[in-house]
Amino acid sequence: MKDLLSKESLLVLLGNGGVGKTTVAAALGLAAADAGLDTALITVDPSRRLRDALGLRKPGLRPHSLSAARLCAAGLKPHARLSAVMLDVRGMWDDLVEHLNGDDATRQRILANLFYQRFTEHFPGSETYAAFEQLYRLEQSHSFDTLIVDTPPAAHALEFLDAPGRISRLLRTRGLNWLLKPPLAVTALAARFAGRAARLVADQLERFTGSSALSDAADFFATATHMLSEVEDRFARVSRLIKAPRTKFVLVTTAETQRMAQTRRLIAELKARRLRLGAVVINRFADEPTCSAVAEGSPHEPLHLREIAALRDLAQAPSSTPAMRELIEYLDDYREHAQERMEEVARFARDLPSGVALALLPELPSEVGNLRGLFQVSGRLTAACQRRPERSAL
Ligand SMILES: Nc1ncnc2c1ncn2[C@@H]1O[C@H](COP(=O)(O)OP(=O)(O)OP(=O)(O)O)[C@@H](O)[C@H]1O
Ligand SMILES: [Mg+2]
Repeated sequence: MKDLLSKESLLVLLGNGGVGKTTVAAALGLAAADAGLDTALITVDPSRRLRDALGLRKPGLRPHSLSAARLCAAGLKPHARLSAVMLDVRGMWDDLVEHLNGDDATRQRILANLFYQRFTEHFPGSETYAAFEQLYRLEQSHSFDTLIVDTPPAAHALEFLDAPGRISRLLRTRGLNWLLKPPLAVTALAARFAGRAARLVADQLERFTGSSALSDAADFFATATHMLSEVEDRFARVSRLIKAPRTKFVLVTTAETQRMAQTRRLIAELKARRLRLGAVVINRFADEPTCSAVAEGSPHEPLHLREIAALRDLAQAPSSTPAMRELIEYLDDYREHAQERMEEVARFARDLPSGVALALLPELPSEVGNLRGLFQVSGRLTAACQRRPERSAL
């Protein structure tokens, strides 16, 4: 993980909803700052506690720097520099429109357009694109050594990767005219093609806007025609940055079998798209001692789990009570579950491409919402990656 945190590195956190992306992004931000890198963290919809900890009052476009006193109090070295911004999806799109070439009246007309407003709020991927755009802007500003971008909650992490392409395709369908003016006067072949294209566009539109808004859509495309090529050019530049060698993806997952399978598929997808995987973080993995044993590659089952095995004899003893037997059964189930997770993670570690760091984070006793707690998590991230847990602690 240490290699990931270097000058000019860009880290993109990716993972399914609720696995801990925002938490890990913030922890990595602290680790990078503590390593002496002037770091900017782009965070998406953080919990209230985390927002307070980072001193973020509302979404915005410019990162604000955390005070040295706040960072020192959390345990970071003096002179550590960390800035953070909470993604402002609508603000980012509006700003993009403001900065595109065009006269003032056109820009105002787009901003007031109902289709545009719904598009920026509801189109799948519009939030994601805003995160990319924020990353691109900070990179262009050359103000920071390291950029870390959290990503919006997505039921499926791949939605994130598909977002720019999907938006680009929608905007490119200026054949929306076909939808609004049925092609009566064209040849039969063109009519068939146009009909199909129109249906495709209509399907996409109906996913986030009602048919009553079609006139707004028509107005949007008519007004924005000259700007759309600029928008596409922008998408292309942002996509190039995402594919650049210094951009690394950090996948966050949990250790359930289904999640691990999704993570394997995601790794394959990244490879197919020639995107670089830097690290995998398995979050909420078992309890602290189990997590440490696996992270250190210990060949032995952790002591506390072995002790549970020893309790079995006690359950058989004539003096045991039903309550005792129930408790021992519960602990035994816990041990079995922990063993399954350890095996799962050991298999996962063996299959992981070389050069990709693997970090394990345990289930923590409480929500991680303050800087000191996050900094402790960041210590685990950097330390855990010194060694790959290739052997199961069984
Ligand atoms: N290792 C952990 N132990 C205990 N709680 C954790 C751990 N990691 C994260 N959490 C808590 O789980 C919740 C979800 O974490 P987080 O917001 O980081 O997930 P996320 O992947 O960003 O979610 P979303 O997809 O909704 O954005 C938070 O309340 C966070 O404090
Ligand atoms: Mg999040």
